[in-house]
Amino acid sequence: MIIKTRKDIASSEITPESVYRERRKFLKSSANVALGAAGAGLLSPAGIAQTGDSLFARAPADINLASKPDWLLEKVAQSVPAPESGPYFTDETKTPFDDVTTYNNFYEFGTGKGDPANNARDFRIDPWSVEVAGECGKPGTYTLEDILKPHAFEERIYRLRCVEAWSMVIPWIGFSLADLLQRFDPNGNANFVMFQTLVDGDQMPAQRSRFASIDWPYQEGLRMDEAMNPLAMMATGVYNDVLPAQNGAPLRLVVPWKYGFKSLKSIVRIEFTRRMPNNTWNDLQPSEYGFYANVNPEVSHPRWTQASERRLPSSLFKPQRIPTRMFNGYEEEVASLYAGMDLRRNY
Ligand code: MTE
Repeated sequence: MIIKTRKDIASSEITPESVYRERRKFLKSSANVALGAAGAGLLSPAGIAQTGDSLFARAPADINLASKPDWLLEKVAQSVPAPESGPYFTDETKTPFDDVTTYNNFYEFGTGKGDPANNARDFRIDPWSVEVAGECGKPGTYTLEDILKPHAFEERIYRLRCVEAWSMVIPWIGFSLADLLQRFDPNGNANFVMFQTLVDGDQMPAQRSRFASIDWPYQEGLRMDEAMNPLAMMATGVYNDVLPAQNGAPLRLVVPWKYGFKSLKSIVRIEFTRRMPNNTWNDLQPSEYGFYANVNPEVSHPRWTQASERRLPSSLFKPQRIPTRMFNGYEEEVASLYAGMDLRRNY
């Protein structure tokens, strides 16, 4: 993995474009070698991403799905627009669709920011099923239709803050995670809930790679009370359309007060657990990525500050460096979940 140690200036903001492009090519290839060479210590969601901006080496925006089921299109079309105030809304400028869909982290498709959009062409979401297991009254295998049909979709405009110190403002389509989880009747032993992403080497090239350090499936968990917080969302669409493959079709988590790596994509398994489950990034690099991963400007990543972020799109000519807010600006909604906890230890 290539690690950027400079605290807060993207290389694209300080380097002439020609030099920057060449360097980016080099970084990209050396990153791929590095991943295999030394395993966990070299990989992070802040890998080559830190070196690049959204303006270069990207495919044109594309939804990238083999097909979109009619019933899903209909549901998305009937979504209730975001309210004009409250936590499901922000009047901050929305990140353009092109940036939302071509500047992605989805390691199953590669570590470069443009890799998901480039490598997720013809991703299949039909058929799709989700296995529900563990401490609940209604375990089983549910089709995508079983999962989504009972829920009315709504738009929520949330900030997304990546641990790599870039951020976006995204109009998601979806519904409360709590409403979904309640349907499975979690029992008194369900203290945590864990989510897993699809494993399918035919469709996800990085899962076939000998150099991948992630032990697939990608998995992340939440404490039950976090998962039941009304802000936590199951997203199925973005910008009034079905989710593109690169953004986690057909359903993904959106947990806006946490660093983006908790917002797991393309979910195929949900398990209610007694004990804190293993988490992909925490397993890979526990000193850098905690279980909680709450956005916190006061607790730096060991290798860079989290006090500010690059709001995309951001460029040499129009840098958008803004201060990072506690819990990504959702303090009122979620601070009580962590009352009395030492957030430096529980990062
Ligand atoms: N989910 C899976 N399965 N694989 C990933 O690599 N990356 C995470 C998260 N979910 C990731 C994932 C990270 S690090 C971030 S910042 C967000 O997805 C990015 O979401 P976006 O690409 O839609 O902006």
